[in-house]
Amino acid sequence: MQGRLSPAIEGEELDSSRSAVLVTGGAGFIGSNFVLRRMSERQTSVIVLDKLTYAGNLENLSSVAQDERCRFVRGDIMDGALVRRLLDEHRPQAVLHFAAESHVDRSILGPEEFIRTNIEGTFHLLEAVRGYWLKLTAQEQAAFRFLHVSTDEVYGSLSPTDPAFTEETPYAPNSPYSASKASSDHLVRAYHHTYGLPVLTTNCSNNYGPRQFPEKLIPLMMLNALKGLSLPVYGDGLNVRDWLYVDDHCDGIQTVLDRGIPGQTYNIGGRQEMTNLELVRQVCAILDELKPTQKSYADLITFVKDRPGHDRRYAMDISKIERELGWKPRETFVGGLRKTIEWYLNNLEWVEHVTSGAYRDWIHLQYTSTNPAGTVQL
Ligand code: NAD
Ligand code: DAU
Repeated sequence: MQGRLSPAIEGEELDSSRSAVLVTGGAGFIGSNFVLRRMSERQTSVIVLDKLTYAGNLENLSSVAQDERCRFVRGDIMDGALVRRLLDEHRPQAVLHFAAESHVDRSILGPEEFIRTNIEGTFHLLEAVRGYWLKLTAQEQAAFRFLHVSTDEVYGSLSPTDPAFTEETPYAPNSPYSASKASSDHLVRAYHHTYGLPVLTTNCSNNYGPRQFPEKLIPLMMLNALKGLSLPVYGDGLNVRDWLYVDDHCDGIQTVLDRGIPGQTYNIGGRQEMTNLELVRQVCAILDELKPTQKSYADLITFVKDRPGHDRRYAMDISKIERELGWKPRETFVGGLRKTIEWYLNNLEWVEHVTSGAYRDWIHLQYTSTNPAGTVQL
């Protein structure tokens, strides 16, 4: 399925100038935030290729639906013929690769789709991009970029006293999700080393912000709290994550695209390490203020069975991107969390739409007695 976001502009030709970019996974959480940000800042066209899995939602792009610079194509990154056609037709100067299966718990209950999309999908995408890139002039080849969006989870797990991950930290992925992302990172690296494709890889810590699918920690906790449901904290709640506001991540990606050196990888993070328990308590404190009830939402916190193979701590050393490219996170955690919670409170209709039957099936599967987080009653 291919179409403009808005039927009103169907039939017009998209500006196929070389400065267009192709964004895979642009209807998901980070991809849509990137597309909206990019379109508000630059005049260039954006072609979004997204399969619209349970995590992809065209509503995420509704604010650019009338904008003729945006073209949406529903399709799979596995479909080499489709990707080749889009590249030939729109001649983008860059491909930004966000599309992936992204939820660790889902990868534990069913790894196959992660292998298919994250590894095989990235391979097919790289093959199509390599074919396109080979046909460009030398000047166009030099200006072209393939930017691969990856995760800090490829580096494995840290003890409380270990130094943060650097770009030199050896890969040690522990979940099917992180193993599939690590594999895709290696493929991207190989396409640079072997074929000279100008690739960039970013490895980022946990994102939060508007439009995150409510299977992930922050939206899950706040939406459960609003419904008076228990807040299922895995294990002892002392696992540590480094949180980054999604808009800062998108800014980091744009910075790497503009100024990164092909073949290099860049860590992106928020320098906001905190335990899950601390984070959930902060969510509850903001909700206590914005949506007060007789009791604190923190009373709903319930410790449940741990995630199998649960990584204890992630922390990112972001000195390379700060030093070499001049990027740093801008949003404070408290400010970003408040904005995020306010966004969800103002967009309960969006929540209603994404928490469809398929979402309810997932919650039932994940949080019932026969599975990792089995002691919660929802
Ligand atoms: P998401 O799950 O919200 O969105 C993924 C998008 O990819 C969806 O729109 C989905 O429809 C699309 N998609 C899935 N399979 C596809 C396929 N085969 N072909 C085309 N489209 C497909 O994910 P997200 O949280 O926005 O993450 C985006 C990227 O950033 C992922 O690569 C993820 O690994 C990486 N990342 C995420 C975080 C985070 O905290 N969320 C942190 C670091 C890196
Ligand atoms: O670190 C980057 C990664 O961050 C990204 O690559 C992934 O795509 C993204 O999903 C995220 O992975 P996490 O596993 O860290 O995120 P999640 O929101 O699933 O969980 C965050 C922490 O909270 C983790 O330690 C598990 C815990 N948790 C999660 C859920 C859903 C709970 O305690 N209870 C829950 O119900």
